[in-house]
Amino acid sequence: MPLSSTSEKGSKPSQPQASFGFRCIGCGAVTAAAAQDFRCSECGNLLEITDSSWNSRNPTALKTLWRERRSLNASLDLSGVWRFRELLPAPQSAEQVVTLREGNTPLYELPQSSRSIGVSRLYAKHQGMNPTGSFKDTGMTVAATFARQAGYRWVACASTGNTSASMAAYAARGGMRSLVLVPEGKISWSKLSQALDYGALTCQLRTDFDGCLRLLQELVRQAPVYQLNSINPFRLEGQKTLALELLEQLDWQPPDHIIVPGGNLGNSSAIGKALIEMLDLGLIPSLPKLSVIQAEGANALVRTLREGGGKRLVSVQAETRATAIRIGNPASWEKAVKVLQATGGACEQVSELEIAQAKAEIGAEGIGCEPASAVTLAGLKKLLRQGFVKPEETVVLVLTGNLLKDPDFTMGFHRGDLFQDTADERESSRLNPFRHPPVVLDASLDAVIKTLEQAEKSDPPHSNA
Ligand code: F0G
Repeated sequence: MPLSSTSEKGSKPSQPQASFGFRCIGCGAVTAAAAQDFRCSECGNLLEITDSSWNSRNPTALKTLWRERRSLNASLDLSGVWRFRELLPAPQSAEQVVTLREGNTPLYELPQSSRSIGVSRLYAKHQGMNPTGSFKDTGMTVAATFARQAGYRWVACASTGNTSASMAAYAARGGMRSLVLVPEGKISWSKLSQALDYGALTCQLRTDFDGCLRLLQELVRQAPVYQLNSINPFRLEGQKTLALELLEQLDWQPPDHIIVPGGNLGNSSAIGKALIEMLDLGLIPSLPKLSVIQAEGANALVRTLREGGGKRLVSVQAETRATAIRIGNPASWEKAVKVLQATGGACEQVSELEIAQAKAEIGAEGIGCEPASAVTLAGLKKLLRQGFVKPEETVVLVLTGNLLKDPDFTMGFHRGDLFQDTADERESSRLNPFRHPPVVLDASLDAVIKTLEQAEKSDPPHSNA
């Protein structure tokens, strides 16, 4: 339901009508309210938000309205999420909305990678350009809004870092307190420092992400805290707008492929839901294939499809340097399986070396991302080799987090010690052409000029020539 009608310019809300409900993805039961754990009371499966009013929209009018809002200055219109509010659950009033002007992220071309791997049009949708540096903000604005509206004083999440940073920021903006559960020693300092600065009560638990999430599930049944993990279906509604905004940026011409990293599998589920809704509404003529890429050491979805036929979850003991996706027991696996099947997408895994190389290649295009995001480029190379992606096709990589989210990884890579004392150490030398280590010199003109001359002689791995 919209907060303002098509005739209104600006944020003036129309009368609220809570027309949405919660539908179980397992048994299909629809309810008006959801329990604290966001699971179906009948069969225990996850819920998704459904709203019959979405189907009665005029696609051409919606496209015009959404574009017009880009020139308006009302708070909701400035948000790249609430700009698409006709396809979101409606809060009681515009004043309830907790926003940091999320969304409206750039779509970049990747000309160097496109040439070097041999695909004709390659784009990166950079969700790392959100207010707290990751895609989580687009979902958090919606879920935090509904938490505040429901009167919660505390919100909580388990996290590999980005969710906690985002939740802490939105809780602070919305006047709520936040509780963060993160695996001790397994998230980047940048992300942890964000949660601290935004005032979260931050608990570093001696377990992994899956252990943190399990504990949170028990906590929400006993304490009046509102959980903001992607099990919360309001999060996924906000994350849908990535796909709406992307298609708008492509003038509603669907790309052939969208490739996204997979961790807890909320984001792939959200993007898939948006694509299917867009097709149903007539906003797009066909579905892009949505593919999910995981790290080899955290490949639960890959194994669920290969060994479990997509019917039962195959959990893993997760291990990867891409700490954002170090998840072995993904909560939204069934939603992700459904969207892979609906869009005809693939699911692949990539090695630690492939991730590191892809991250350096994206960085060399001048945009940069965190390791978990780089699985998309590494995965694309594999899908091209397999013939699943054709050279003449258009591909969009979803970059989920900002380069500055994990400086330790980047420094380790360029210094050359990222793979020290690991099984990959010997083979990692093939990544040397992608490294740009800092040079320590005497403060003399001569020394700098000599270094410049040496650099001029060695070709960079990518060249625009
Ligand atoms: N990329 C980044 C940068 C992430 O932070 C995450 C998840 C993902 C990809 C995977 O997305 O879970 O929706 O499949 N990070 C969560 C967190 C788990 O706690 O920050 P997903």
